[in-house]
Amino acid sequence: MANSIKTIGVIGAGQMGNGIAHVCALAGFDVRLNDLSVDRINAGLATINGNMARQVAKGAIEEDVRQAALDRIVPAATYDDLRPCDIVIEAATENEEVKRKIFQSVCPSVRPETILASNTSSISITRLAASTDRPERFIGIHFMNPVPVMQLVELIRGIATEDPTFEAARELVEKLGKTVTVAEDFPAFIVNRILLPMINEAIYVLYEGVGSVDSIDTAMRLGANHPMGPLQLADFIGLDTCLSVMQVLHDGLADTKYRPCPLLVKYVEAGWLGRKAKRGFYDYRGEKPIPTR
Ligand SMILES: NC(=O)c1ccc[n+]([C@@H]2O[C@H](COP(=O)([O-])OP(=O)(O)OC[C@H]3O[C@@H](n4cnc5c(N)ncnc54)[C@H](O)[C@@H]3O)[C@@H](O)[C@H]2O)c1
Repeated sequence: MANSIKTIGVIGAGQMGNGIAHVCALAGFDVRLNDLSVDRINAGLATINGNMARQVAKGAIEEDVRQAALDRIVPAATYDDLRPCDIVIEAATENEEVKRKIFQSVCPSVRPETILASNTSSISITRLAASTDRPERFIGIHFMNPVPVMQLVELIRGIATEDPTFEAARELVEKLGKTVTVAEDFPAFIVNRILLPMINEAIYVLYEGVGSVDSIDTAMRLGANHPMGPLQLADFIGLDTCLSVMQVLHDGLADTKYRPCPLLVKYVEAGWLGRKAKRGFYDYRGEKPIPTR
């Protein structure tokens, strides 16, 4: 089945969607990129262009490889434009309602044999699959951020996911040069079940005044040997995504230890969503990031 995957649809051209389109195109797949508007698709394409140019500058890829990969990514303004796709990977905002609506709307436009996948960080694959007409051809393919750099991809079966769907997803991920790990369909799977409570705790440490943004991040970089501090990482992930994941953990596991920190809620309400909004726990509007607390 995976051998027959030639064309990949990506819904959502934000940081994850454009990263997925980037690696798929570099691996030789044809890509169709969708978002809410042509402007957003074009913003995603511009990011891919810039990121691939950086890879050329670093000597990671040749200029002709970059050009060929860019040519393989075609904007898909409507779901009907996704019809040629053998698999469609959804990477839209981390909100179950948004994702369910996308899957309901996309089903009539794609072929019956097309596999549907979600890049969700936390939401039940079984529930998302139930909003489609093909739960047996539905799977979670959870890439890490930034997609071109990070090695791991979590694969998550829903209760109805059939073996050929799983094998097709595994072969696809391997063709992208990534390593698969398999997680069961529980809230936030493996990586985020462990990572997000740590980030949320770092925000509580900030909220309670135990340390400043700088002291918390320095402590975890130099004291726990993390490559970046938890607040810097939260900004990188996007604070709206962090909050959604904590809400899914809190609702899904019904344990108060997953209560989202009120300070995280406040930052999201302010629209301070991290790097993508140019402000989060750091302010990115100047030459170098300045801690906001
Ligand atoms: N940020 C991370 O570190 C990370 C890592 C792994 C997985 N994810 C998951 O990837 C998904 C996307 O996250 P992101 O960080 O790229 O967010 P983002 O905010 O950068 O991008 C989301 C994109 O989805 C688009 N979108 C929203 N509704 C849509 C719709 N109905 N149709 C088409 N496009 C729509 C938005 O316009 C936006 O461009 C989420 O499910 C998130 O949990 C994120």
